[in-house]
This record gives sequence, structure tokens and C-alpha cells, in this order.
Amino acid sequence: MQPIQAPFPASRPRRMRRTPGLRAMAQENTLSVGDLIWPVFVRGGENVTEPVASMPGVNRLSVDRVAEAAREAADLGIPAICLFPYSGPEARTADCAEAWNPDNLSNRATRAIKAAVPEMMVMADVALDPYSDTGHDGFVRGGVIVNDETVEALVRQALAQAEAGVDIIGPSDMMDGRIGAIRTALEAAGHQDTILLSYAAKFASAFYGPFRDAVGASGALKGDKRSYQIDPANSDEAMRMIARDLAEGADAVMVKPGMPYLDICRRAKDTFAAPTYAYQVSGEYSMIASAAQNGWIDGERAMVESLMAFKRAGCDGILTYFAPAMARLLR
Ligand code: PBG
Repeated sequence: MQPIQAPFPASRPRRMRRTPGLRAMAQENTLSVGDLIWPVFVRGGENVTEPVASMPGVNRLSVDRVAEAAREAADLGIPAICLFPYSGPEARTADCAEAWNPDNLSNRATRAIKAAVPEMMVMADVALDPYSDTGHDGFVRGGVIVNDETVEALVRQALAQAEAGVDIIGPSDMMDGRIGAIRTALEAAGHQDTILLSYAAKFASAFYGPFRDAVGASGALKGDKRSYQIDPANSDEAMRMIARDLAEGADAVMVKPGMPYLDICRRAKDTFAAPTYAYQVSGEYSMIASAAQNGWIDGERAMVESLMAFKRAGCDGILTYFAPAMARLLR
């Protein structure tokens, strides 16, 4: 690339950084509350707010409290909440039947939010890990995650979520063919307006650790998820997964985790020009929140910087546990 600026002293780049006004004028990207999707952990009971030990400032909420939190989030301008059920060992079975129970935690929370705060969009996660006795996203047969049988179950789970009224379905399981299967089933059931935000580029990451604790899957998980999630060494493969999911009917795609994968975000946006989201996952949140708690970094500035980085990398929005804090700051 040719230099686009004359050398010093003809050009003094610091001139444009001199005052707040000039910096605002030169700012290339912006964060707004409309960019934020708030992931929330739902648990049983009533009037319960239970801190997640590995995620400072994050709680598991009973359904009534989730509806209240949705009201507050809507008042802050947050457009969407993403639900993750915490399930104890009793909800985890070999057949994962709780996944398509119309009255499971996630579906009850969806209806409660929609009743209390109709304008709040609800997103739900499609994967069997909250309901499986193995902690895996799919069925395990003879030590192997079986694809096609899992996809049938994921379709049932997605249909139950659509019936409960979710606006956005987020398949996070990484099975082959699930986007096409879910899209076909949604069309057949009259849910043609349900959005599929595919976790298309989902990597086998250590940064999901606190989440698995938050949803009660850490103890359950046997082995790892490398036979279905992408190797962190790969970028071309992530592009192939995004291309496939868009071809199968995804409306939008996600890159997950976020901060260590900004190159994937940028490449995805440049390659596909599709609505692109990043998930700043639990481990990323906890690194910032715990360092801030210890006084090692300025938590607020680190939050803003990390979220702005996603916009700079081409993302249209971010799933982040910081959503309420960021929204408050943007007020
Ligand atoms: C499970 C799922 C995971 C997350 C979202 N959905 C964990 C996993 O794949 O093990 C992680 C989110 C986070 O870490 O914040 N299908």
C-alpha cells in the first residue's frame, strides 16, 4: 500500500487526536445499545437470584426474576435476551426428553418474558447439553456423538421453542445438517418468521469453562467437544461452516468465542456480507470481571474496549454478559 499521509512535519497525525471533539469526529466505529444481546441463566424456583461463582456479577434467575430482568433490559434499550437453562442432574436423561418439553425452563421463561415484555426479543439455544446426562450437545452411542439422531432431537427442541414464542433460534450444537432440518421443520409448522442465528463458527474452546459451571454441565461433561466444534487453529474451516449454514437457511451467523477470534469475525463479514454476531463468552467475561474485581484493570474501560473491538472487526452485534452494564453506560 502507498503511504496515504505525507511524512512529518507536513502531516501531524496527533493533530486529529488532540481534543475530544476531534477524536469524536475521527471515530470510525460506534457501539450502541441495539448491538447487544444479553445471555441469561434461568433456574427453577421462585424469587431466586443465585450468583454464579465463576462469573462475578452474573446470576442464575428464577423465571419470575427473568421476566423482571427483561423489563429492566427493555427499559435500557437492550433488544434481545438469550436464555440458557441451568439444569440439575434430575433434568438430565439419556433421551434428553426435557429438551422438547413445552414446559421446560427455557420455554417457561420465554412465555413469561413475552407476556411481561412483548417488545423484548427472546433467543433460545438449540443443543442437548442442558438435558444430557453426558453434558454433550448430542447423543452419545458407544462413545461417539451420533449426528443424525441428534439432529432429529434438535428439530423437536427447536419446534418447542418456536411454539413457546422465541423470536430467534440459536443452534449451538455444531451437528451437520441441523440448520436445514430445523428450517424445513419451521416452515412446515408455520413458523416461517422465526430467525435462525446459527452458531456457525463455534470453536472447541477453553473459554466456555465458567458457562458450563453456570448451567450445571461441568460435572456432567465426559471428554471434550472436539469431534463437533472447530479446531482453534482453523480459519478456512470456519468459512466453510458459515457458507454451509447460510446455504441451509441461516438468517445470521455467529462467531464464538469472540475476542480470540476477531480475525474470523472480520473474514466472515468480508466474505459473506451477512448479519454477523460474536459471542463474548463466559471465560472472556470472567477474565475481565475478575481482573477488575481485583483492581488489576479498569473494568469499565476494558468492557467498552472489548465490545468496540467487535464492531471494528465487522460484527453487527455482540452476545455479552456485559449487556446491562454497557447499556447503562450508553444511557
Ligand atoms: C452449549 C453452549 C455453550 C455455550 C453456549 N452454548 C458451551 C459449550 O459448547 O460447551 C458457551 C457460552 C459461554 O461460554 O458463555 N451448546
